[in-house]
Amino acid sequence: MEFQERIRRKKGKEKIVMLTAYDYQVAKILDEISIDLILVGDSLGMVVQGHSNTKSVTMMDMIYHVKAVARGAKNTPIIGDMPMNSCNTIKDGLKNAKRFIEAGAHGVKIEGNRPQVVRAIMEAGIPVMGHVGMLPQVAEIYRVKGKRPEEAEEIFRDALDLDKLGVFSMVLECIPKSLAKKITENVKAPTIGIGAGKYCDGQVLVINDMLGLDEHFKPKYVKRYATLNKVIKDAVARFVEEVSAGKYPDEEHTYH
Ligand code: KIV
Repeated sequence: MEFQERIRRKKGKEKIVMLTAYDYQVAKILDEISIDLILVGDSLGMVVQGHSNTKSVTMMDMIYHVKAVARGAKNTPIIGDMPMNSCNTIKDGLKNAKRFIEAGAHGVKIEGNRPQVVRAIMEAGIPVMGHVGMLPQVAEIYRVKGKRPEEAEEIFRDALDLDKLGVFSMVLECIPKSLAKKITENVKAPTIGIGAGKYCDGQVLVINDMLGLDEHFKPKYVKRYATLNKVIKDAVARFVEEVSAGKYPDEEHTYH
């Protein structure tokens, strides 16, 4: 069975788990644990490259990271995130979606409601994941979207449109849980939430956030499952101490 069908069949039965990965080693770990989907998100612009948003991420950046992730994840479907300006025209969207597949992705995610691009990519046989709600590629500030009725209505309509086109799933980002529930109940595609509450068919987080790599970044929806920032600092402090004291390398870590 194709992966997108497996994801679709989980709707209403089993929760879908997706995490981002940007490199070989993390992808390998996720692959060993066995999650449903790995997203090579354009969030790499922030958590890997250190920019304040995702807007400057290029196709070249994305392809580099998809290739690394594909070397690590041999069994988990990989979704490549179409970066800003990669699908402004149908021609560009199609060309760039194909580049993702050639690099080792199994499908692509597209932010916002771009029916013609989505249709063309799907007609080329490439599974598409939608993304509605807060859209980092166009947002001026990151905030919860859909609190105002007219904004909620627009997000709901976008979700229905994408569902009609046949996306195999859709990300709902930073919207109230009541809106996420309404969308989830009214679309056939499984919804995968990030900051969208418990009624979604699945959840996604940026792996750096859930591992606590940045001690200062903690939006309300992020639950930290580890505090790697502290783990790394403690380890590096011990290394500094031992090198300074001449304790490392000891005999155990020395060739003879
Ligand atoms: O870029 C990304 O990591 C994403 C997720 C936040 C869904 O789009």
